[in-house]
Amino acid sequence: MTMPEVKEEKREITFRVYRFNPQIDASPFYDEYPITVEKGITVLRALNYIKEHIEPRLSFRSFCQAGICGSCAMRINSVSKLACTTQVWDELAFADRENVILVEPIANLPVIRDLVVDMDSVVGKIEKYFGWVESKMPENQMGKKEFNIAEAEFKLYDAATDCILCASCISECTMTKANKEYITPAVLLKSYRMEADSRDAVHDKRLGVLVSDNGVWDCTHCYRCMEHCVKHIPIMEAIHHIREDAVQKRGLSDTPGAKHAAAFVKDIEKKGRLVESLLPIRTNGLSWTVKNMLPMAFKMTKKGKTPPPPFMVKAVPGIENLRSMLKELKSRGNSNHHK
Ligand code: SF4
Ligand code: SF4
Ligand code: FES
Repeated sequence: MTMPEVKEEKREITFRVYRFNPQIDASPFYDEYPITVEKGITVLRALNYIKEHIEPRLSFRSFCQAGICGSCAMRINSVSKLACTTQVWDELAFADRENVILVEPIANLPVIRDLVVDMDSVVGKIEKYFGWVESKMPENQMGKKEFNIAEAEFKLYDAATDCILCASCISECTMTKANKEYITPAVLLKSYRMEADSRDAVHDKRLGVLVSDNGVWDCTHCYRCMEHCVKHIPIMEAIHHIREDAVQKRGLSDTPGAKHAAAFVKDIEKKGRLVESLLPIRTNGLSWTVKNMLPMAFKMTKKGKTPPPPFMVKAVPGIENLRSMLKELKSRGNSNHHK
């Protein structure tokens, strides 16, 4: 006789939680809380239990408990997620230590206390990049009639409106990690949503800031934001749309970012690969390159890592095929823009 399979429904699990109170702690540390957890419990419920029964000072944010408000984002086993929609038992598969779940604040934002981060810089960036619609409707008509848009237009930014500003994408963004002034993926997404709205009156102003330093051209296309968006929003599509819009409306010589993209395409067209030694000059000009790149160039020469001079960069085999593919892509792009 075979015994019926007994499914484990409870387990002792340790939550290793980041702790830091900048007012009294010299540096962050980790506390471990072993608790018995039933299957079906979320990380947020486990944290609530710890706060109620073990450590009342443990600080974290939560509100809706349903993946709607975005306040409970944190890094669970080193990945940014919403604690209220993350099942403890699912996380056991990703734990570095058996039955130990690591809980930390989201990255790239200053910690106020424990798992609570300061969102002020995000709010500041939403302000800087006009993250709202400034209505074209004359003031005397406001409140008297609706200002509708076509369904087809709404579809353009429908997905972007799902953003709950949880900052998980900001936490995972490689560019934000390197440069805290960077616009961030969440703010790019918000700007796109407003930029695509035909009722908005400040497109040009917004686009002007978006293409400036720390803006849309600084994104490195690592796709991490999109991979980790808790609402599965295609953030990269928004970033591409802003760039296309910038190139169409402001031309390719407008900013270093646009010039960089243009130089990139030209190299691929000509040789099928990049002429790296000339990219900084074509992007930022000779004087900027001499001033900013010379020290690095010396270091690279010392280590034997300088890119080959332009005359040594030969065209890749099959360059003719590549050129005709690019030509085809360009003509498709042009006909799409004229639709
Ligand atoms: S694709 Fe751009 S915005 Fe997204 S994570 Fe990478 S650098 Fe950040
Ligand atoms: S884009 Fe996604 S991950 Fe980023 S803030 Fe919005 S919902 Fe959160
Ligand atoms: S508590 Fe609102 S999203 Fe988690």
